[in-house]
Amino acid sequence: MLSGKSALWLQSLRALVVFFSLCQPISGYSERDRAHDLMTRYPLIDGHNDLALQLRILHNNRLSQIDLHNVSKVATDISRLQAGHVQTQMFAVYVMCGAQQKDAVRLTMEQIDVIRRMCTEYPDFELVTTVQELKNSELRRKIACVISIEGGHSIDSSLPALRMFYQLGVRSMSLTHSCNTPWAESSSKLYNVFQRQNNSLTQFGKAVVEEMNRLGMIVDLSHASWDTALATLKHSKAPVIFSHSSSYFICNHSRNVPDWLLQELKKNRGLIMVNLHSKFISCSDAEANVSHVADHFDHIKKVIGAKFIGVGGDFEGATSFPHGLEDVSKYPTLIQELLRRNWTEDELADVLRRNFLRVFEEVERVRDNLVSTHPSEVHISLEEVQNPCRLVLRPPSPRGLPSDQSSSSMVEHGSPGLLILATVLLLLSLFFD
Ligand SMILES: *[C@@H]1O[C@H](CO)[C@@H](O)[C@H](O)[C@H]1NC(C)=O
Ligand SMILES: *[C@@H]1O[C@H](CO)[C@@H](O)[C@H](O)[C@H]1NC(C)=O
Ligand SMILES: *[C@@H]1O[C@H](CO)[C@@H](O)[C@H](O)[C@H]1NC(C)=O
Ligand SMILES: *[C@@H]1O[C@H](CO)[C@@H](O)[C@H](O)[C@H]1NC(C)=O
Ligand SMILES: *[C@@H]1O[C@H](CO)[C@@H](O)[C@H](O)[C@H]1NC(C)=O
Repeated sequence: MLSGKSALWLQSLRALVVFFSLCQPISGYSERDRAHDLMTRYPLIDGHNDLALQLRILHNNRLSQIDLHNVSKVATDISRLQAGHVQTQMFAVYVMCGAQQKDAVRLTMEQIDVIRRMCTEYPDFELVTTVQELKNSELRRKIACVISIEGGHSIDSSLPALRMFYQLGVRSMSLTHSCNTPWAESSSKLYNVFQRQNNSLTQFGKAVVEEMNRLGMIVDLSHASWDTALATLKHSKAPVIFSHSSSYFICNHSRNVPDWLLQELKKNRGLIMVNLHSKFISCSDAEANVSHVADHFDHIKKVIGAKFIGVGGDFEGATSFPHGLEDVSKYPTLIQELLRRNWTEDELADVLRRNFLRVFEEVERVRDNLVSTHPSEVHISLEEVQNPCRLVLRPPSPRGLPSDQSSSSMVEHGSPGLLILATVLLLLSLFFD
């Protein structure tokens, strides 16, 4: 039996519980709801995701073996993209730097293929190549896929290859990954290739940027060295992006962007899409959380304003993510934190998607203005590219494939009749051997 006193005590306790259960969720939910409401109206365009790389590593691109609605061992699948209000995902085509001078172009094609398959075989996805298609996909409640190449080594220093990638739907390319290319410099010193002094964007590099402007392909400066970034910002006719980079002032990693470069980016009307990788957020693998991420947003806003900021999560590419932001379903947590820090809904609508749409529109406008410019016929010199795998397309010599200048010059100067005769004799001798 309860005494009268303890019954009263229990009653007050119950009242307290009711009070808190009414009160707590209202304030708690309302902030969370506000983030979800905002993201329903302005769903996210995310700048960088390496799911295609994981499909390669884990499944050798055999899409038939998995259900993309729910994929284990990764942080990205359709269910979680939807839960995170991700409406557009830039999917990276990334082939390791080790493929440079080897089969980078084949691997790039295969990664484009897997993204195209993923985005056409699943009705939740839609492959888009224009701003208008991207906007239409939102009205249809689809997740739009934009294909972006990560690392200029994918084009093997060839503008025709760049143009063909555009034809396959590629709408963005970062000039480098962790390796220099023969024409642009990486922020990383990991690979000891194409070292140059004082030439961070060569004449050919400038031709790449010009051709991307002409095609309407977004130039991405994440992974480029600061010198290359600056040279590109000065040369590009269209706004450029950092698809997945954060603030160097907050975390002094070479992949992040210093304030002076942010100022140049603002002059270019470009966009920095903040990377969530713990290493770039807190400068350590451990202990990062959503507050640290928000510090990057606050700082960049202080330096250049909210009109030039976006989000580029880097899921599947990076190894560790802040506590509370472990997969693509968690983006609302970040928006909730920025709301808590008094970012206005207008600023966040810009960050979530309007800034990217503006940049993509301007890139298309520059393309339209260049419509009478012919495709560039600039070639890189063999000395610059230093690639023994490059074949000079000439008729084969009877002594085997022309692998050096002497055999190709023989082909050039020799009489075609003699050459055909020699070839026939060679074939006959093989036949009767
Ligand atoms: C995904 O699959 C796992 C088991 O493989 C299951 O536990 C989980 O509930 C599934 N998630 C969704 C969103 O379907
Ligand atoms: C770098 O190039 C600039 C102009 O192209 C030149 O003025 C400068 O002397 C060069 N510096 C070095 C270290 O080569
Ligand atoms: C980054 O900052 C830390 C201290 O915060 C310092 O020890 C380190 O040398 C700095 N790194 C660079 C590249 O400036
Ligand atoms: C994040 O971690 C810092 C300590 O590094 C702490 O002060 C802050 O409250 C944490 N934020 C959240 C949202 O947990
Ligand atoms: C947000 O604004 C309110 C009202 O002006 C203020 O009391 C609060 O300290 C601000 N919060 C932050 C994190 O700046």
